[in-house]
Amino acid sequence: IEAALADGPLRGRRVLVTSGPTHEPIDPVRYIANRSSGAQGAAIAGALAALGAEVVFVTGPATVPPPEGVAVVRVETAQEMLVAVQGALPADAAIFAAAVADWRVAGPSDRKIKKRAGGAPALEFAENPDILATVSAMDEGRPALVIGFAAETCDVLGNATAKRARKGCDWILANDVSAGTGIMGGTENAVTLVTADGVEDWPRMGKREVARKLADRIAQALA
Ligand code: CTP
Ligand code: CA
Repeated sequence: IEAALADGPLRGRRVLVTSGPTHEPIDPVRYIANRSSGAQGAAIAGALAALGAEVVFVTGPATVPPPEGVAVVRVETAQEMLVAVQGALPADAAIFAAAVADWRVAGPSDRKIKKRAGGAPALEFAENPDILATVSAMDEGRPALVIGFAAETCDVLGNATAKRARKGCDWILANDVSAGTGIMGGTENAVTLVTADGVEDWPRMGKREVARKLADRIAQALA
């Protein structure tokens, strides 16, 4: 509440942030998911609220708790996240920090799958909706600023630039999440901001500092 009342450059602005992994059920006791602590998304939502924004925080089951002063909408699956995002619009800016599972299990079982002598079950997958691409492509009510992430393990800049074009978002924050960088699940991040104006490498810094720097940039862009 305090943060929501804060005076700041984003006062009167409504911002949407997605965060965390999604869980896609296999059966009532099992799921597939992406690795994500939700730390970067939570930090971004907190930094935006601290600048006075009204923040809707749509989060999958993250390990890091949501920040104070934001409206939290909890979801499990990618399909639920899309519905929650659409319900939270309109917004002046939308930041898609969630690590959405690209595929869900087609026809999850409503009973626990039991071990059998016949061997392991074969799972069939269906593609999940691309939430960032869906919002970027909106004809009516598209947020003025749509920002995505690109977590890559090779050719980070090439993949991020292509991703920005393919998804139709305004900015991409690209990062190298290769094993050994310590970024997945860690407290630091090293990002490259890709916009229509070019490419900017930010030095490695804490995820909260990345969040503050991004929030400042968003405030400038919306001013
Ligand atoms: N994203 C999304 N909905 C999805 C998949 C991704 O909104 N179903 C968003 C993420 O939150 C992130 C951006 O899209 O902001 C890029 O996600 P990423 O997984 O890097 O891109 P993909 O297009 O899924 O490509 P790939 O995983 O094959 O690299
Ligand atoms: Ca993906």
